Amino acid sequence: MTNAELEKMVDTSDEWIMSRTGIRERRIAHKDEFTSDMGAAAAEQAIKLAGIDPKSIDLIIVATCTPDTAFPSTACHIQHKIGATRAAAFDVNAACSGFLYALVTGDQFIAGGIYKTVLVIGAEKLSSIVNWQDRNTCVLFGDGAGAVILQHRPNARGMLAYDLGADGAQTEILSVPAGGCRIPITQEVIDQRLQYLQMAGKEVFKYAVTAMNRSAEVCLDKAGIKAKELRWVIPHQANFRIVDAVAQRLNISLEHFVVNLDRYGNTSAACMPICLHETVMAGKLDRGDLLLMVAFGGGLTWASSVIEW
Ligand code: ACO
Repeated sequence: MTNAELEKMVDTSDEWIMSRTGIRERRIAHKDEFTSDMGAAAAEQAIKLAGIDPKSIDLIIVATCTPDTAFPSTACHIQHKIGATRAAAFDVNAACSGFLYALVTGDQFIAGGIYKTVLVIGAEKLSSIVNWQDRNTCVLFGDGAGAVILQHRPNARGMLAYDLGADGAQTEILSVPAGGCRIPITQEVIDQRLQYLQMAGKEVFKYAVTAMNRSAEVCLDKAGIKAKELRWVIPHQANFRIVDAVAQRLNISLEHFVVNLDRYGNTSAACMPICLHETVMAGKLDRGDLLLMVAFGGGLTWASSVIEW
C-alpha cells in the first residue's frame, strides 16, 4: 500500500509521511492470510536456505504481537504448516523487540546444549490491529515475516552479547487496550475502537531514541566491541528519524545501518529478520562480520544483540 493510497483513506499526504517517517509503502496481507501463513512461508525459505529437514527442528519460537489466535500459539500453527513434527513450539510477545527476545531465548537452548536446531520467526499482521481511520498510526505499519535457523557451528562465536530490558511503567503510551481479559471485546469497545493500536507518538519517539542508544552501548560494552568494528547495524524499522538519531548518538555512519522501512514500514517483530535476510541475500554479510541488532517496542521493551556472523 503506497502513501498515495493512504491519501485516499485519511487526511494525510505523501510529503508528510515521507518527511516525518521515511516510509514510502508497506505490505498488507490478504484478509484470509494470517500471521502463521507469513511465518510459515518465511520458515520454509529459511529451512531451504539452511538445507535442513523440518523434522530435525527441535524448537520453534515465534515473536509476534498479532497472533492468529490467543491460543493455540502461532508457533503451533506454523509447526503444523511446515511439518516440523518433532518441534516444541511457543510464542514470545515483546512487541517490536520480540524478535531479539526470541533470538536470545533460542540461543540459550543451543548454548546450553538442550537443542541442536531452533527455528526463530518474527511474524506480524499489524494491519489487523491498525485503526485505519487514525492517521496518527495507520501510516506507520505493515505486515510481514522473517525467520532464522539457529545451530551450533564449531569454532563460531555467534551471539557475543545481548541486552534485554523493559519498563512496565510505560504500558499506556503504546498498546492495544482491548481484546485481553482486562477489556474484553463488547459492542461498546468496538464502537470506541479500543481493539486497535494506540500510541502517544512523540513520547514513544523520545523513549525509543534514548532506550535504543543506551541498550546498544551496554551491549557493545558487554561484547567488548567498538562501534567502528561493526560492519552492520540492524535497527528496528519504526521511523527513519529514529534510526538517524540513534546513528548520530552512537557515532556510527548511516552507511552502516540497514534500512528498508521505506518499503515495508514498521512490521514490528518481523523487521529484524527481514532486514537480516535482505542483507544476506545481497551478499553483504560474510563469515566473521560483526553485527549489532537493536530494537524497541511496546511494553515498553528494548533489546540488543552483538553477533559475529
Ligand atoms: N498525516 C498528516 N498529519 C499527521 C499525520 C499524518 N499521517 N499524523 C499526525 N499528523 C499531524 C498531527 O495530528 C499533528 O497535528 P497538530 O499539530 O495539528 O496536532 C501534526 O501532524 C504533528 O504531529 P507530531 O506528533 O508533532 O508529529 P511527529 O513529528 O512526532 O511525528 C510520528 C509523528 C511519525 C508518529 C512520530 O512521533 C513517531 O515516529 N513516533 C514513534 C513511532 C514509533 O516508533 N512507534 C513504534 C511502534 S513499536 C511497537 O511496538 C508497535
